[in-house]
Amino acid sequence: MMRTSDVAVIGAGVIGLAVAWRAAQRDMTVTVIDPSPGSGASSAAAGMLAPVTELHYAERDLLDLTLDSAARYPEFVTELESATGLDVGYRRCGTVSVGWMGSDLAALRDLAEFQRALALTVETLTAAELRRLEPLLAPGLPGGVLVTGDHQVEPPALVAALRTGATFAGAQLVEQRVASLRVDSETVVGVDLADGSAITAGETVVACGAWAALLDLPGDVELAVRPVKGQTLHLSGDPGALSHVVRGEVRGAPVYLVPRSDGRLVIGASSEEAGFDLRPRAGVVHDLLRDAQALLPSVAEMELVGVRTGLRPGTPDNSPLLGRAGVDGLVIATGHHRNGVLLTPVTADGVADLLETGTAPTAWKPFDPLRFSPVRVDREASWS
Ligand code: GLY
Repeated sequence: MMRTSDVAVIGAGVIGLAVAWRAAQRDMTVTVIDPSPGSGASSAAAGMLAPVTELHYAERDLLDLTLDSAARYPEFVTELESATGLDVGYRRCGTVSVGWMGSDLAALRDLAEFQRALALTVETLTAAELRRLEPLLAPGLPGGVLVTGDHQVEPPALVAALRTGATFAGAQLVEQRVASLRVDSETVVGVDLADGSAITAGETVVACGAWAALLDLPGDVELAVRPVKGQTLHLSGDPGALSHVVRGEVRGAPVYLVPRSDGRLVIGASSEEAGFDLRPRAGVVHDLLRDAQALLPSVAEMELVGVRTGLRPGTPDNSPLLGRAGVDGLVIATGHHRNGVLLTPVTADGVADLLETGTAPTAWKPFDPLRFSPVRVDREASWS
């Protein structure tokens, strides 16, 4: 069987579904292909929307993109919720980073100086201020940093709403595995599916996260994307244990706690270079629970509901691969690494612009999908 679409989107996680929704809203016919929609990295993500808290020193270009996407979130959510009638759990709760020891706090304060130098809004908290803000955190924590503009969303709820939104807008979802890209005279013209059927499309968008590493692309194109395993723990307890997202470093290891308003809590996350191995590991569960409980003692009383494992699509500079990759008919939207949920609105809007106008946003120059590829040198001229 052969279907025809203007756009084929490979991957039905938050990125692929949001791209499909936006493209279908612009009257393109869209088919999204995924053997198990929403079950990849999107299902394990905690949903921190924290461009400031999660800033790393060498990631200046990425900061512009994450801030842009965070600023799009309120309208994106309002539009999606009113189109679908579904709540995506967007909560403007702010994020508190806490130090476990004085040296952790010193590192947080150094980062806060860097953040302020970039005109970002951060407030340093004394131990007493931290205690007033989050009274159930462990006594004795030396202080922290508050970012009032870093929020959260619930990834599984976002997936459900994007799936509904994309479908309402006319996109088709095909629950199949992509076997290969269809290529005709060096142009990508759709995909062949594992069941022997095919979808022909004028444009094919690669939005399958880490699995993009397994796709054979035409020509010299290689995507510098790799799986970075992350495990999150899902707990349930009384509401109100925390009113902010809390991020901490305990004995040098990062841990974060994302409280939902009904008492659920997500604890994350490991960062493991383990290939495509999705099995949860007991030692990781132990370490996350130990560190989360060190910060919030009442974790010990909560019900452990489950462990979820996902594969972040990592790249050498932790920034996404966005735009054309030197092959007609092919658009890349992967490599979002730790920021897939946060970068969903800006990615979907930019890919829809690219599909409609043929031009990627100029702000995407640092995210050229071929910046790590041997053919990059030949492409430099096209950006100037
Ligand atoms: N953004 C949090 C994580 O990737 O674990």
